[in-house]
Amino acid sequence: MNSFMSWVGGKKSLRDKLLIRFPLEYGRYIEAFGGAGWLLFHKPPESFEVFNDMNSNLVNLYRCVREDPRKLIYRLKYMINARDDFCCIVEQHRRGLFARFRDYDRAAKFYYLIQFSYGHKTDQYCCRPVAMWKKFPLIERAAARLQSVAIENRDFESLIKLYDRPDSFFYCDPPYYATEDFYKDVDFTREDHIRLRNTLLECEGKFLVSYNDCPEIRELWNVPGIYIESVTRLNNLAQRYESGAEYHEVFISNYDTSERRNADRQLSLLDDGEEGIYL
Ligand SMILES: C[S@@+](CC[C@H](N)C(=O)[O-])C[C@H]1O[C@@H](n2cnc3c(N)ncnc32)[C@H](O)[C@@H]1O
Repeated sequence: MNSFMSWVGGKKSLRDKLLIRFPLEYGRYIEAFGGAGWLLFHKPPESFEVFNDMNSNLVNLYRCVREDPRKLIYRLKYMINARDDFCCIVEQHRRGLFARFRDYDRAAKFYYLIQFSYGHKTDQYCCRPVAMWKKFPLIERAAARLQSVAIENRDFESLIKLYDRPDSFFYCDPPYYATEDFYKDVDFTREDHIRLRNTLLECEGKFLVSYNDCPEIRELWNVPGIYIESVTRLNNLAQRYESGAEYHEVFISNYDTSERRNADRQLSLLDDGEEGIYL
């Protein structure tokens, strides 16, 4: 299923490539940099799932969606797509006033900023018609999906240490190198890339990290026992100027990400064999 929101750096177009690289077996799924949760919403539900993000406005939105989506929808119905209203809410956000609002008012204002801002960056008015009501069924579906998901609001390091077990699997999608300041409400620094690497290298469980492909990240992760795989996807923004333009990314893991694909291949070979006997 789709996420109920757009988000800077959302992994909508990489979700299939990521899912097929999950470990064959694990007991706990933990998404450390949740954002719009494109992977969480795409994957089949499992008994132990954790969604985390450091952004407290975002996490409050998720909690409100999960607890009572109709309360949120009720508020969104009465919010108008108008520059003055948008600028007023941006100002409240900029001055750090959101934390003073009641949970559902805060969630509605934050969702409004995401929906009506240019590039979903929450700061500039997008100047186009947006049918908020089209999102309501998605919000209801997301609420159903989130019922058994633990929602955390922690820094990645404390989260990873808290949930680390030999059967844990962490999917980490941090702010990309040199785009750290794209994310409002949180303060991810260049040093945090090193902190993330060190935290993951110490953990007992498995991890998969997605990053932009750049020399700094390749050098940082040039560590024995670590797999780095290049992947490409169409660059949606650049398509207007250069059709077929690609964006280069890397998947970094501490296990062989081909194990699931190999197992699927073996199964399909077995299937072919059985058909052969019948024919
Ligand atoms: C690339 S986005 C994740 C996108 C997500 N995978 C998706 O599909 O929408 C990175 C996220 O990391 C969060 N973040 C930034 N610093 C963090 C920290 N120290 N700990 C946990 N999350 C953090 C940001 O708020 C942002 O939502």
